[in-house]
Amino acid sequence: MVMQPTARPDNPRFSSGPCAKPPTFTLESLSDAALGRSHRAAIGKAKLKEAIETTREILGVPAAYRIGIVPASDTGAYEMAMWTMLGARPVEMLAWESFGAGWVTDAVKQLKLDGETRTAEYGEIVDLTAVDWNKDVCFTWNGTTSGVRVPSGDVIPADREGLTLCDATSAAFAQDLPWDKLDVTTFSWQKVMGGEAAHGMLILSPRAVERLESYTPPWPLPKIFRLTKGGKLIEGIFEGATINTPSMLCVEDYLQALGWAKSIGGLPELTARADRNAQAIWEFCDSRDWIANLAADPATRSNTSVCLKFTDPRITDGATFAKAIAKRLEAEGVAYDIGAYRDAPPGLRIWCGATVETADIEALLPWIDWAFETEITAQAQAA
Ligand SMILES: Cc1ncc(COP(=O)(O)O)c(C=O)c1O
Repeated sequence: MVMQPTARPDNPRFSSGPCAKPPTFTLESLSDAALGRSHRAAIGKAKLKEAIETTREILGVPAAYRIGIVPASDTGAYEMAMWTMLGARPVEMLAWESFGAGWVTDAVKQLKLDGETRTAEYGEIVDLTAVDWNKDVCFTWNGTTSGVRVPSGDVIPADREGLTLCDATSAAFAQDLPWDKLDVTTFSWQKVMGGEAAHGMLILSPRAVERLESYTPPWPLPKIFRLTKGGKLIEGIFEGATINTPSMLCVEDYLQALGWAKSIGGLPELTARADRNAQAIWEFCDSRDWIANLAADPATRSNTSVCLKFTDPRITDGATFAKAIAKRLEAEGVAYDIGAYRDAPPGLRIWCGATVETADIEALLPWIDWAFETEITAQAQAA
């Protein structure tokens, strides 16, 4: 029997989205929000512009790239890109977990595009060297539901003819994104920055803008997807004149999170925090023979959405076992929302993004030992 640990994480929020707020967050810190004011008034526009420019500064987005705040979170940003840019040339759809698979459904079943689909099982990644980058390529940088990420952008040729459309929602602010290799990049505030959902970020390379201005898709576009007018990019969207009304409370919250990010040292420290969190879990797994990273190749292991599987041969029903562990940890108030995603293999998923404190991960790990031993014993007694 493993004794129940005595120390608990100060913050048991390890959800993969919405993710933990920055450690300095308080509701009072939002008191400067432009509430009850128009987002088109000078004060609203200035805040939206600041959100765009601080995002650029922290992520190191080149000056020639456009950054827009768009409706409907990461999904809105990514589908807006698909619906406005795809169809001009053949596509390759890459998927290694649930969200990438969702973009495949969009392309194949909804847009009915001429394309090839490459998929890999949970824990694996597709062979990126086999991809034809002269086609438009859609992929997810960090697979949130499998804990597998693209190890590097080196494989993407600089002189590709196609566009790369990258869903980077659980990578941005915790992993290096090679801007010269990414034509469309999307993310939501709710992930690594611990912001609120519902607003999406859409980052476009000059080649993506060129596509928007030279190509009109054959299908109708709703107003919230329209990025051009009269064949020209609507530049205002990328200066803070959003397509429709944003929440100024969420904008303030994002600005506060960006301020925190800058205060701790920007992207290098955000990334280092996620790395330290993930490392603590990897070491925990390395020294136990009953739990392992779902990512097969260490080079593809995520440092944000760390997905784990139980490998003990005594476990009779993997899904029930993993759910029971997550439930025990939640009931003890030591970890909320760490069950594997509903479509993913049974296991745990522990968010390690920048807003999570390493001390909280370290405090959680002995509880996983405890929950595992307790559940194995319970399983034996029930048999
Ligand atoms: C890789 C990935 N893509 C898309 C989404 C959907 O994001 P949202 O709900 O912010 O639209 C998520 C959410 O977890 C995700 O992890």
